[in-house]
Amino acid sequence: MDNRQFHNPPLVCVIPGDDAAPEVMRPTVEILRELVPEIRFTEAPCGREAQAQYGTPFPDVTREAIDAADCTLFGASGGPSRPILWYLRWNKETYINVRPVRWIPGYRSPMLHPERIDYVIARDNLEGMYPPREGDVAELAALPSSSNWWMAPPVEKVGAYSIKVSTDEQMQRVANYACELALQRQAAGYPGRVTLGAKYSIQPRTDGRFRTLVKEAVSRHPGLTYQEFLVDDMARRLVASPETLDVVVLGNEHGDILADVSSGTIGGLGLSPSACYGENYAYFEPVHGSAPDLAGKGVINPTAMLLSGALMLDYLGYNKQARALTSAIEQTYQEGTLLPVDQGGQAGTHEFVQAIRARLTEHGS
Ligand code: NAD
Ligand code: IPM
Ligand code: MN
Repeated sequence: MDNRQFHNPPLVCVIPGDDAAPEVMRPTVEILRELVPEIRFTEAPCGREAQAQYGTPFPDVTREAIDAADCTLFGASGGPSRPILWYLRWNKETYINVRPVRWIPGYRSPMLHPERIDYVIARDNLEGMYPPREGDVAELAALPSSSNWWMAPPVEKVGAYSIKVSTDEQMQRVANYACELALQRQAAGYPGRVTLGAKYSIQPRTDGRFRTLVKEAVSRHPGLTYQEFLVDDMARRLVASPETLDVVVLGNEHGDILADVSSGTIGGLGLSPSACYGENYAYFEPVHGSAPDLAGKGVINPTAMLLSGALMLDYLGYNKQARALTSAIEQTYQEGTLLPVDQGGQAGTHEFVQAIRARLTEHGS
């Protein structure tokens, strides 16, 4: 994680994505350019536009732009850009998805005490139930291990199955990443606590093994504490006692679902950034999807995309600029005179971005 060599100056591939995603991507890139003029951004074709121009939603030029860059900023896929997302995850082996969950004064949280919310989800980004591996239920009869199953699958019926896959290698690196993250946060005053949420009671070979490996990883990091909850109870705790959480480790589909729950507790998907790191690549995307219901309306909240951009600046070593961008966002929410529509305000995307830009200029960043 610390040995990456970037181009000098760095090169970032920009994939705007589908539906409303380009409406948050374009202003985010403008702000990032203003903050760090030396970064080189290359926007690559994707989705419907790429389909029209190249006859494919994921042309070679886009793959080459991703490969050539130090990292990628990704909007969201509404379907057409999905092969690109797949490439960024599985071909680039970005094994961990980091989803910070922090309430900022001014965010419209439905919680009574949202000031208690400040933790990070560390989600497996490669295994579990995704990518989809599905087939006809009849095929399961051929599996040798099916003789050990408590209940044989109804192979005589028409139906489908979906596979969950967990390798020791991936679970171990997710566990180690979570521990390293907890240590980093501990140095900044957080409690150094790793919390696992999984269904280890019912799925001993996958989630049970994950439990063992996470527990072992924490025990190899003196100074960290470990707690674990069955994932259904974990879901409740995200709402009932978020102040007990620091680094929350989750499997792929659990992390996908619970990250949206967490986002709901701070005020919604417009506010939740994420970063996906691998050993040789990283990409940054909001937790939210392509928000097709908002496309073309000019009201989509750019905060999640901007904060994902701040995570990218940190990754590239522009920590001061990342801090400046985050502070400008915090101040704009704190002041509360100009808020995006999903946060109870009336500002469109452009107006809100202008407010952040004004803050940045004021502070001479
Ligand atoms: P979504 O996250 O796009 O939207 C869910 C709800 O949140 C909608 O009401 C939407 O208007 C709102 N919302 C989302 N982002 C917002 C923002 N920035 N500001 C204000 N409101 C926002 O999820 P969905 O509707 O379930 O899925 C739409 C598409 O996105 C689907 O094709 C799905 O597969 C895809 N998706 C992609 C990714 C990704 O690319 N990583 C992530 C999630 C969903
Ligand atoms: C997300 C999305 C994706 C996921 C989908 C589009 C595959 O929901 O990034 O949260 O499940 O990871
Ligand atoms: Mn999701």
